[in-house]
Amino acid sequence: MEWRFSPQSLTTKRIKFVFCASMAIVVYLSTTYTAMNKSKKTTDVLQLPAFIKKEDVRSTQREHIVLQQSKIIVDSREPSISVMNKSVGIKEGKMIQNMEEIQKKRKGLIKKICAGIQPGANGYYKPLGNKMLIFNDQYKFLYCKVPKVAGTSWRRVLLVLTGVLNSTAKVPGFNVYQQNYPSISQYKNNRRNYTSFVFVRHPFHRLLSAYRNKLEKTVPLGFEKIAKQIISQYRHNTSFDNTNSEANVSFPEFIQFLLNFKSKSNLNKHYDFQHKCCAVCEYSYDFIGHFENIVEESNYLLHSLGITRVSFPEHDVYDHATNSTNNTTYMKYYSQVPSRDIIELYKLYEMDFKLFGYPFPKELV
Ligand SMILES: *[C@@H]1O[C@H](CO)[C@@H](O)[C@H](O)[C@H]1NC(C)=O
Ligand SMILES: *[C@@H]1O[C@H](CO)[C@@H](O)[C@H](O)[C@H]1NC(C)=O
Ligand SMILES: *[C@@H]1O[C@H](CO)[C@@H](O)[C@H](O)[C@H]1NC(C)=O
Ligand SMILES: *[C@@H]1O[C@H](CO)[C@@H](O)[C@H](O)[C@H]1NC(C)=O
Ligand SMILES: *[C@@H]1O[C@H](CO)[C@@H](O)[C@H](O)[C@H]1NC(C)=O
Ligand SMILES: *[C@@H]1O[C@H](CO)[C@@H](O)[C@H](O)[C@H]1NC(C)=O
Ligand SMILES: *[C@@H]1O[C@H](CO)[C@@H](O)[C@H](O)[C@H]1NC(C)=O
Ligand SMILES: *[C@@H]1O[C@H](CO)[C@@H](O)[C@H](O)[C@H]1NC(C)=O
Repeated sequence: MEWRFSPQSLTTKRIKFVFCASMAIVVYLSTTYTAMNKSKKTTDVLQLPAFIKKEDVRSTQREHIVLQQSKIIVDSREPSISVMNKSVGIKEGKMIQNMEEIQKKRKGLIKKICAGIQPGANGYYKPLGNKMLIFNDQYKFLYCKVPKVAGTSWRRVLLVLTGVLNSTAKVPGFNVYQQNYPSISQYKNNRRNYTSFVFVRHPFHRLLSAYRNKLEKTVPLGFEKIAKQIISQYRHNTSFDNTNSEANVSFPEFIQFLLNFKSKSNLNKHYDFQHKCCAVCEYSYDFIGHFENIVEESNYLLHSLGITRVSFPEHDVYDHATNSTNNTTYMKYYSQVPSRDIIELYKLYEMDFKLFGYPFPKELV
């Protein structure tokens, strides 16, 4: 169909256009006004996750922030928690006292690093969205789950709390991921009072865990395409050339892929930036847990939430499938990666290292 311009109707068209446009504006303004009034009246309108006290939202449009190197001082020294008794640690006054101190330090560090970042290229991203958040109304907490940081174990705890599971023990054939968790989309009241928490992990341990879990041997559905892409692009381009064309993605190949990945704001959630997953600069969490002491810290947290009928599933962590935190395993994989790539990889995940107080991995270069 051809569109014809007819000069005689131009004035009519203009009048019509102006009329329509004004009507549209009137309609728009009135709906906006109604919407504003509505959201004022009812608190159960889906809004920003109100659980987290918004600290300093400099700009919601802002996609990227660069680190201002000079302002950053990493203080990874933490009070020793080695004195803890893994099974009863939470009951020991010393541990509780230490944990408060540890939390103060961790939160202070995040605040400091976040204050030193500015809009710019690479590094700061908006939250992945509401799917990262799970809440529990009975004990009034909100958990932001970073993939590859003991999410399965925390899910088990949540399922015991809601009565879906009888214990945190593994149940054959029971998929914790296919259960219903109250997420922010089912959010009804103001949960500003809820205790919010997030668990983070050494960025390189987490990457290794993602690699071992998703690419090393059995490649799960959804990763086959990525695996093929990595092999076709990097197999004959790394200093660790994998001559076996049948072999699965090697660790250095995976690292090459990460370093060359064009759209760093679109990384798969299993190796996406931890600070992005839970928007740690946008929201202030009440508790920042570290995977490295996850059993003790989770039990401390559960205890402080008044939860006594379930403790964190120790067995999950200590016989964990990928052993990525084991120094022997860690060294074995990362020693295959050239120093140059280690430094680039550190730069890529620098925000996670600095925000969560993990030092530069000098043992790898
Ligand atoms: C930890 O506490 C349990 C329970 O009280 C006790 O049986 C165990 O001996 C303690 N372990 C250590 C290393 O103190
Ligand atoms: C939980 O325990 C009850 C009663 O012993 C049992 O009927 C039920 O099957 C158990 N549920 C799970 C998921 O194991
Ligand atoms: C939040 O806490 C305050 C003070 O403890 C209490 O008055 C208020 O009802 C709480 N709000 C919700 C939604 O639980
Ligand atoms: C590659 O992965 C497949 C499963 O996707 C596995 O069966 C095979 O043994 C792996 N090959 C090598 C060389 O590890
Ligand atoms: C492969 O290696 C060459 C030489 O180091 C480099 O110029 C090129 O960019 C690399 N290609 C990819 C896809 O990384
Ligand atoms: C992890 O370590 C344990 C104990 O050292 C070992 O039995 C297990 O096979 C390891 N798992 C993997 C995937 O390497
Ligand atoms: C780490 O892994 C090595 C090799 O698999 C194993 O011998 C060692 O016992 C592990 N260390 C710990 C603390 O599990
Ligand atoms: C891990 O092992 C390497 C090499 O043996 C060593 O330099 C490094 O200090 C170890 N790291 C830890 C945390 O033990």
